[in-house]
Formats: sequence, C-alpha cells, structure tokens
Amino acid sequence: MSNVQPYPYDVGVVGIGRVGLPLALSLAASGLKVVGFDVNPDTVAAVNRKTMPFIEKGCDELIRRVEFEATTDGDRISEAENLIITVGTPLRHHVEADLSQLDVVVEQLSRVLTPGQNVILRSTVAPGTTEFVRRRLEAATGWKVGKDIFLSFCPERIAEGKAIEELTTLPQIVGAQDEGSFRRAASVFERLAPEIFRTDYVSAELVKLFNNVSRYVYFAVANQLAVTAEQFGASIYDVLEMANRGYPRKIHGLPGFTAGTCLRKDFGMLNEANPYSDLFLNAWKINESMPKFLVDRMKARVSLHGARIAILGYTFKQDTDDTRDSLVPKLYRYLKREVPAEIRIHEPFLPRIVEDRWNDLRFENRTMEDAVAGADAVFVAANHLAFRDGFAEIAATLKEGAWISDLWNVSGTGRMFYQKAKKERETGEEHPGDGRERVYRLFPSETAGGQRMPGAGAG
Ligand SMILES: NC(=O)c1ccc[n+]([C@@H]2O[C@H](COP(=O)([O-])OP(=O)(O)OC[C@H]3O[C@@H](n4cnc5c(N)ncnc54)[C@H](O)[C@@H]3O)[C@@H](O)[C@H]2O)c1
Repeated sequence: MSNVQPYPYDVGVVGIGRVGLPLALSLAASGLKVVGFDVNPDTVAAVNRKTMPFIEKGCDELIRRVEFEATTDGDRISEAENLIITVGTPLRHHVEADLSQLDVVVEQLSRVLTPGQNVILRSTVAPGTTEFVRRRLEAATGWKVGKDIFLSFCPERIAEGKAIEELTTLPQIVGAQDEGSFRRAASVFERLAPEIFRTDYVSAELVKLFNNVSRYVYFAVANQLAVTAEQFGASIYDVLEMANRGYPRKIHGLPGFTAGTCLRKDFGMLNEANPYSDLFLNAWKINESMPKFLVDRMKARVSLHGARIAILGYTFKQDTDDTRDSLVPKLYRYLKREVPAEIRIHEPFLPRIVEDRWNDLRFENRTMEDAVAGADAVFVAANHLAFRDGFAEIAATLKEGAWISDLWNVSGTGRMFYQKAKKERETGEEHPGDGRERVYRLFPSETAGGQRMPGAGAG
C-alpha cells in the first residue's frame, strides 16, 4: 500500500460472488480496508446484513467478525487504491468465452478510474484477455499501464469450499508486464499468500487454465475406465485399487460427474482458440457423456419406463450449494426421456423448493426418505459426505429389488450398479447383489469400508 493514502479503501473487490467474497473477507481480516461492489442487490444486502449469500466454509464467522461493506454503486470504484476484478467469465452455449460481465467492468473502469489506481484481474480468462483489457483501458483513458495506472493478472486457484484455507496456503501467481504493476499486486497478496511468483500475463493465464484442465483430463481418464470396466463386466474400483496399490505411478482421479463452473468452462477457454480436435475435447466428450452412460446402463438392468426414480444430489460437487454447470440436470432430462412414472430429487444443500435459473428447472426438494421410498432405481448423483456417512440408512429405506447407480462409490461397495437384494431370511442380513456376486474381494477392509473419496467434479 502507498504511504500517502488518498483513498478511503485499500481494496475494492468487483464482483463479490463465490470467489470475490471470501477474498474480500480474508483481505479485510488481514487488516486492509475493503469494499465490495456487485450488481446483484440481493448479494449486497445480504453482505451488509452480515450474512453469507452462499455456503463457504469459515465465511459465516468471518463475515460477522470483519469490517466490510458492499455497494451496488459501481462508480465508487474510484475510492479504492487497488481494484480486484472477480466477476463471472462463463462459457457461451457454443465454445466461446462470455466476456460480457468483464466488458461492463472495463467500460466502468474506463470512465471512473483515476491515475495511480491499480487494477488486478482475477476472474479466470482465456489466454490473451489481460492484454485485451490493457489495450482497452489504455485506449479509453489515454493513460499508460505501468506509468499512470497499473494492471496485472492474479489468478484465483482455490477450490470452492476451501477458499478461506487455500487463500493463505496457495502461492499467488502475479502476471505483470511492468515493475509497478507487479509491486502493487504483490503488496495486496502478500497479506495472504505464503509465496508470490512473478510472470507475464499469458503465462499466468495458462497456469490457471492448465491447473484446471489437467484435473478435467484425469477425471476423464477415470470416467473412461468406468465405461470400459462396465463394458467388460469388471469393477472399476477393484481395478483402480489394484492399479494404484503399492505402485508409484498411480492413476489419478476417481470417476464422477465432472463439470462445474471451472473445469468444463476452462476447457472451453482453451478450446475456443484451437480449431483442431485435441485432448481436452475428448476429455469433455467422456465427462459430458456420463449422465447418458448411467441412464443407458441402468436401463439395461431395469426398465425405467413407468418406474419410480430417485436422484440423490443435485449440486455440481461435494458439499456445496452451487448448482452452476452441474451435470445432474442433464441426468434428470435423460431420465425424463424414458417416461418414468416419477422422478424425485433429494439435495441436502438446497431449500425445499429449488428454482434453478441456471438450468431452467424448478422442483420440490424431497427429504431423503421421501425421495427413495418405493423407488425402482436410485441414482447417487453427488458424493456428498452425508450420503457416504449415512449410506447404510439410505440402503435400509430402499425397497427390495431396487437398483442403485453409484458412480462415486459412496456406498463403499465398489460397484457402479447393484440391486438391493431380498432379505436373506435365515440370517436376517442384507447385501447388495447384481447376479454376478464376487466370491471374495481382494481388500475387503478398504473397498467395503466406504473410504473418503475426494472424487471428481471439483471446479
Ligand atoms: N467458483 C470457483 O470455485 C472459482 C475458482 C477459481 C476461479 N474462479 C473464477 O472466478 C470468477 C468468478 O467466479 P465466481 O464463481 O465467483 O462467480 P459468481 O457468479 O459467484 O460471482 C461473480 C459476481 O460478479 C457479479 N457481477 C457481475 N457483473 C458485475 C459488475 N459489472 N460489477 C460488479 N459485480 C458484477 C455477479 O453479480 C456475481 O455476484 C470466474 O472467472 C471463475 O471462473 C472461480
């Protein structure tokens, strides 16, 4: 921060969503004066009431404790010495980065920025976007970056749900083309990050995108294995366990619904610049096909026409209330094509009535018992810890003969599909069976114990 302080705020965070708000609160907790800007009046009102507009671990306590205010008045961005842009950068329907939110902010900056202000782009962007912002700012203001105003790209690499922890444990990459911009950005992030790495705009953009797409690819490998194992009648979890046990060059990643606001989108940001078929396109294809694969393979076991179906989980990844870019609506739509009698959804992190504008879907969120009662087929569509920890209870509520699709292995059975067997009258025990029961398992204590699986879908 500069010694002479003409600004009421050290930092202004533009876009206090899932990334911007935890960052703003963490910077405020570090002792900086921080203000948040957002065009969504509901977000601003919630923040000023000191309540979180979404679930993020540790933030409920932080928002009550720190001094932080938010406003919808975007013209007040001239009041902050450093501006961190964290607006959304989604993908359009076709493979194209949607820069509309960023456009509005850059237009606003061009009008009200004053010499000396430092702009830090933190939204995830396609390669070349920071350079585009530099040109636009310079063209609109007549000022020079590095002399009159300052600009850097400082990617956000946290995982949702771990923001508060990771903001202070992950190194911060600072992409800057001049010393002044680097020093200013570093002076903000050294409040949080243990290490700061300096590079140029494009390298910083690529670090962020490739951190994410490499995860997208290794989850795709696990999903491909799930498809292949099913095709040849093997258990993916047995194969994974044996492939990795005691072997130093492991298969990373576990199967699951892999999308979310980061992984799928970041694939698109690289792919839009590439006219050729590439590795990421194939990863996208396998990850995107998982809902259809599960429906088709379930159909091969039990007719879904006229069936009662339960879907457990709706959000895009474990223990979040974020529905953006979830693959579960896609699963729901494929199931509807089978003309079932009913589909009931249970999602512990959402309210009773779910209005999912992102997916154009409205539904009554059932209790777990209500969702699975009498169901012929159950799809475990998210790996929430509550499903894993309470799976015995879920299984007990299922009707005899119900089929379960458990891509995530929340049940710990190591099976992607299995049927709730009829009670064994002599022993009173229940066990899953699908007609090709194993004689023994190699590592029963580990595979059947329902280990904590990080799973895919982290965006
Ligand atoms: N969510 C994640 O886990 C994550 C992780 C790393 C990086 N990112 C990246 O961070 C960026 C933000 O993602 P997010 O998940 O926080 O999105 P988000 O939609 O939760 O937050 C964006 C916020 O910006 C606000 N906004 C839009 N236009 C605005 C404007 N003109 N002025 C002020 N506010 C405006 C929106 O109302 C919203 O509250 C994206 O580029 C994303 O790819 C996200």
